[in-house]
Order: sequence, then C-alpha cells, then structure tokens
Amino acid sequence: MAVVGLRCQVILFALLIMASVAYGAKLSKSHYYRTCPKLETVVRNKVNEIVNADLGMAPGLLRLHFHDCFVRGCDGSVLLNSSSNSAEMDAPPNAGSLRGFAEVDSIKAEVEKACPGVVSCADILALAARDAVVKVGGKYWSVPLGRKDGFISSLVEANSSLPSPFMTFAQLVENFAAVGLNAKDMVILSGGHTIGQAHCAVVIPRLYNFSGVPGATDPSLDPTFADMLRTLCPSDEPLTFVGQMDATNGTFDNEYFTDVKSQRGLFSSDAALLTSPLGRRIVRESAAYPGSFLREFGKSMVKMGNIDVLTGSAGEIRRVCSAVNNNGNY
Ligand code: HEM
Repeated sequence: MAVVGLRCQVILFALLIMASVAYGAKLSKSHYYRTCPKLETVVRNKVNEIVNADLGMAPGLLRLHFHDCFVRGCDGSVLLNSSSNSAEMDAPPNAGSLRGFAEVDSIKAEVEKACPGVVSCADILALAARDAVVKVGGKYWSVPLGRKDGFISSLVEANSSLPSPFMTFAQLVENFAAVGLNAKDMVILSGGHTIGQAHCAVVIPRLYNFSGVPGATDPSLDPTFADMLRTLCPSDEPLTFVGQMDATNGTFDNEYFTDVKSQRGLFSSDAALLTSPLGRRIVRESAAYPGSFLREFGKSMVKMGNIDVLTGSAGEIRRVCSAVNNNGNY
C-alpha cells in the first residue's frame, strides 16, 4: 500500500514538473523576496528621484515597458544597443522618441549595488513603469516578477509589431490580439496617453490636406482643437513637439478619455476608439469613472507585463541593460 502511495506521489510530482515545463514557469510577486528584499524600495526611490528631476521621464518609462513587451515579449530587448544587427531602439517607432534609457541604466546600477546579478532589466522596466505611473497620480498595482532578459533585439521586428498611430480600430484590435491582449485592454491601455508628449509628425496628416484633399482637416477632430494644433504644428515642422497628450498632462488620470470623447484625441488611433460600439462604451465609462479606469489600467498592465516572458532557465540576468552578457557569446 505504502509503495503504491509513494508511486502516486512520484507520478504526481513528475506531472507537475511536466506541466510547468509545458506552460512555462509563472511570474510571481514574491520572486525576489529572498534574493533581493529591498528591490521595490530601491526602484521606487530611484524612479521618484528621476521623475522629480524630469517629469517627462514618467511617460518615458511607461512607454519603454510597453514597447519592450510588444516586441518579443517583456524581455528587456528594447534596451539593447544595436550591435551586429540593428536593434529595436533604432526602429522608426522608437528612434528619436523613446526616452528613459539612461535612467533605466541608473536604476539598474542602484539595484546591482543592493543585489548584484539577481534582478533582470525586464523586471526593472515593469517596476519602473508602475512606479512612474503612481508617482504622477496613478493607482498602485502589484507587479508579478521573475522575467529574464533576452539575447535578441531586432529593428525589423519592432517595425512589424508596434502599433501605428494611423491604425483603425480593427487594426489596433488585431495588433493587440497578436500579443494576447483583447480589445478592452487596448482601449484601457490607450489611456496611457494621459501623460507625455508627441511629435507634430503624428498629427500633421490630420491637420493639413487630410486624405490628400487640399485644405481638408480630419473630420473626426474637434475644429477648435484642430485650430489650436495647427498653431502648435506648422505643416513643415514634424519634429516640433505637441507638449501635451491630454488636457491635464503631467497627471495620470482619466482626462484622456474625456478628451477622446469630445474629439480631442491627438492621434488617429485615439480617435479610432470612438468608431466601434465597444470602444465608445469603454471610453465613456472610463471618462465617467476615474477610479474604475485607474484600477482597470493596473489590471491590463499586469496582462501586458506577462507577454511572452522568459522565465526559469531561459534568458539571462543582464549585468548592464544595454548589452547582453559575455559580449553576445552565449
Ligand atoms: C494603442 C496603440 C498605440 C499607439 C498607436 C501609440 C502611439 C504613440 C505615439 C505615436 C506616440 C508619440 C511618439 C512621439 O511622437 O514622440 C506615443 C506616445 C506615448 N505612448 Fe503610445 N501608443 C499606443 C499605445 C500605448 C500604450 C498601450 C501605452 C502605455 C500603456 C502608451 C504610452 C505612451 C506614452 C506614455 C507616450 C508619451 C511618451 C513620452 O512622452 O515620452 N501608448 N504613443
């Protein structure tokens, strides 16, 4: 009898191991409890210091995590410098507009002092994004941890995986579905556009000769808002910044949805949220219930942070975030 019991236990154990190999080890909130108990405090203090010095780093850090996760999963690939191949950071959706690289390096250096060789850059990005959002008024969410850093970063993949600001609702849904996120996640996470800046290049096509018609403006833009944007963005100044993404820029709140609802969303992709019944409903609800939007944002961020993560024996813990260990000889 005892032998049968033991055999059952062994089989159960083997099945559990097989299941965890098949489905991949999961992220966990307690991943660094033993190996780096001060991690969250170290990252939070550093992010607060960085955002106090430059408010623009809050949107910068949030967008870095998003752009990391959408290309090859949340594996720190966005942070790798180009070497023999061109890296994600040099792809047009990133080059000249992603910011916060040096700041992530400085957070990593601080973490390395506290716990050398233990914490991945991918996890630092996930924590820094959360802490940046909280620092400018967003609501806290727990970040599951245990991501490893990847070895590959590809410009070509960044070009094909990141959403474009000219996408329709259906195209945005498809783009998010490709990484396992649903339409609701897409609308809620677009609320990240409550902070930060954009280049005029993204809005100029909406303001002048829209769809190739001389003198036409995108009809989905509020005319007064379009006039204001034209003063900020002359047609020949694509590199000028539109200083704010919503009317309460600098604060992580639900104002983005109020703006989108009144046709004051900056990008075509923001305006596109109103073109589907589901999108319209979530925009209206998020505009009406700020607390609910902030909670939903945290939930969708956790889902985003789970995209194709490397765990267990996959990947590595990079020593510096901008390069793989061992000069790429892995
Ligand atoms: C839905 C599809 C999305 C599209 C098409 C899109 C596109 C863009 C574009 C074109 C910019 C301006 C870049 C520039 O000109 O400098 C931008 C900025 C930004 N995006 Fe998105 N985005 C999307 C979703 C998201 C998501 C999911 C997040 C975060 C959860 C996010 C966070 C941000 C932030 C914070 C900025 C400001 C960055 C800064 O100030 O440095 N975006 N986005």
